[in-house]
Amino acid sequence: MTSIAVCPGSFDPITYGHLDIITRGAKVFDQIYVVVLNNSSKKPLFSVEERIELIRESTKDIPNVVVDSFQGLLVDYAKSVKASAIIRGLRAVSDFEYEMQITSMNRVLEEDIETFFIMTNNQYSFLSSSIVKEVAKYGGNISELVPAPVKNALKEKYTVSE
Ligand code: PNS
Repeated sequence: MTSIAVCPGSFDPITYGHLDIITRGAKVFDQIYVVVLNNSSKKPLFSVEERIELIRESTKDIPNVVVDSFQGLLVDYAKSVKASAIIRGLRAVSDFEYEMQITSMNRVLEEDIETFFIMTNNQYSFLSSSIVKEVAKYGGNISELVPAPVKNALKEKYTVSE
């Protein structure tokens, strides 16, 4: 039986922290669907199409990764691709409450889909898309934080908008 997992997120934009989770998840599951979903509490900088393209470029060397987007509930997407698992990264204790809330809600919605957490590599425990955007906005060096295509895209965004 093929093991299929979904790795969901806003990915606005993808960082080395996300990539670490995707790479490690891809060693455990036969197929990983990295899916861009809407987080109603966030206002994204990049369009869904831009985020997908940046994830594709950043994951092109991982053969068992498929990149996609979905408007709707994560569990509905997971069912549509026959995934039995959801993968999320956990950076610090501060992530725990939010993750517990969405995991519990997803289990209420679909009890047969299990969520697995991967502890973020220590070197990325401080990293988030928001902090990367903040640094990029004010011209800081983000080379160690995001893949090169993301760095270029952020440079372009902030140059164009200024
Ligand atoms: O990267 P994020 O913003 O922490 O990811 C959160 C995300 C997009 C996975 C979450 O908001 C989500 O699953 N959105 C889709 C709508 C949904 O299924 N909501 C019910 C679970 S709370």
